[in-house]
Amino acid sequence: ATAPGGLVVQADKPGAVINRDIFGQFAEHLGLGIYDGVWVGKGSRIPNVRGIRSDVVAALKAIKVPVVRWPGGCFADEYHWRDGIGPAAKRVTTVNTNWAGAIEPNTFGTDEFMDFAAQIGSEAYISVNVGSGTVQEASDWLAYMTAVAPSSAAAERAANGHKAPYKVKYLGLGNEMWGCGGPYTGEEYVTKMKTFAHFVHNQNPDQAPPKIDYSVIAKDLMSGKPMDSLPSNPNGMKRIAAGPNSSDASYTEVVMKAWKARSPIYWDIDGISLHQYTWGSLPFNEPGTGFGEKEYANVLMQTQWMDRTVTKHSAIMDKYDPKKHVALVVDEWGVWLKPRAGTESLFLIQDSSLRDGIAAAMNLNIFARHADRVRMTNIAQMVNVLQAMIMTEGPKMVLTPTYHVYKMYVPFQDATLLPVTFNAGEYKVGTITLPKVDAIAARGKDGKVWLSLVNLDPNSPADISTSVAGVSATSAVGEVLTAPRVDSINSFAAPDTVTPRPVTARASGGTLKLTLPPKSVTVVRLEP
Ligand code: AHR
Repeated sequence: ATAPGGLVVQADKPGAVINRDIFGQFAEHLGLGIYDGVWVGKGSRIPNVRGIRSDVVAALKAIKVPVVRWPGGCFADEYHWRDGIGPAAKRVTTVNTNWAGAIEPNTFGTDEFMDFAAQIGSEAYISVNVGSGTVQEASDWLAYMTAVAPSSAAAERAANGHKAPYKVKYLGLGNEMWGCGGPYTGEEYVTKMKTFAHFVHNQNPDQAPPKIDYSVIAKDLMSGKPMDSLPSNPNGMKRIAAGPNSSDASYTEVVMKAWKARSPIYWDIDGISLHQYTWGSLPFNEPGTGFGEKEYANVLMQTQWMDRTVTKHSAIMDKYDPKKHVALVVDEWGVWLKPRAGTESLFLIQDSSLRDGIAAAMNLNIFARHADRVRMTNIAQMVNVLQAMIMTEGPKMVLTPTYHVYKMYVPFQDATLLPVTFNAGEYKVGTITLPKVDAIAARGKDGKVWLSLVNLDPNSPADISTSVAGVSATSAVGEVLTAPRVDSINSFAAPDTVTPRPVTARASGGTLKLTLPPKSVTVVRLEP
């Protein structure tokens, strides 16, 4: 390993705002992600509010989940929303064809999801069924969620217990349309997507587009050019088109080309989705615990690939959209490991170790560095599935290392990125060479300068001296997350094996000296 050098934060050169939605979550009807993980039912002995488990709600409130994507995933393109509304006793039972043929009781539907989102204080990202559904079905769903009286859709929602229209911040126009959502070529998808973008309206008056003065836009309208003269609608629903699988550029090209040629009065999108998972050796093969340093380093190496994937798609988007109207939305990412022994493999239940927490921090740092283009991400998934925040088993609940990283990163929500320069040093194992240290800095909404410092090296600490141009700091206060081993996990029996501990450091002569423990994530704020 090579020693890292000093870190300089340029507090006087603020960059992009790190959109809080970068810290978003994803909750699919998959395995125990919804049933058991979120929904236990109103009659359950597990404490709940209207069927939604209270321990999970309290834990999610603490990480200030900004947005949740629902109901899938692959599930979304086979989901029919009418199955999940109305009196519970009358709801149909269906089969979750994507995920182990599990019985879908539909007891958790639209109103239950919106209740859950409200209980945790999160915005809703609804993924409509583009693959096997119709434009009419999606349009009716949005009417059910957002219409107001005297519309019949609003009356139906009111009869189901919710008079006020819901807010739908994001609308997903299909999922993985090159795979489980289709499969469609980019061109085929664009034709389909444009009709959904055009006909699926949000009727919530708080989100409605401002009235258009046609005399103002007439010139642009007649010229057929994109209409910069259209009034903006900051509170409007944002439409997210399906996008690429990892580094495959074809969807990005085709969708962005169509976007550039659009007439935004007829259809528009605000984001294009990107899915990229970290598999380790092979999908479904990398053990969640009981692995060695080589496997640890391999997963972190693949985590770094997110940067080049985002860079690649951003470059294509820059060609068509230099003003960055369309966001790159990484609405599925995370470490996808071997299912835990004895569990149904298509329930995607895995052990989540310190390594995965470190990978989460590295990914969040990559997204923050690309904050001008990446404005939402949704880790897969929130509870009991893949790189989950929380695992449950009956009444028991445990928080994963990734949960703790999300909690430590709360101050970075809507913070302003500050440039950092530093010599990252090197951490080598076998043929793999990684930076020893990864770091970001930002000015939080509290006005303070926050640093996140990751020491990837499991064998030696990293001494980092930090100076902050434009800020005089006397100390740093925060938390550090580490554990005895890279594969340490939290279990129901030992829930605090990987848990953050307080850290403080003093500055002298304008320089702050921090020692980062091996294999750790440190988040501190500078105190004047
Ligand atoms: O997150 C699990 C699955 O991974 C999603 O349903 C799908 O979109 C992706 O392939």
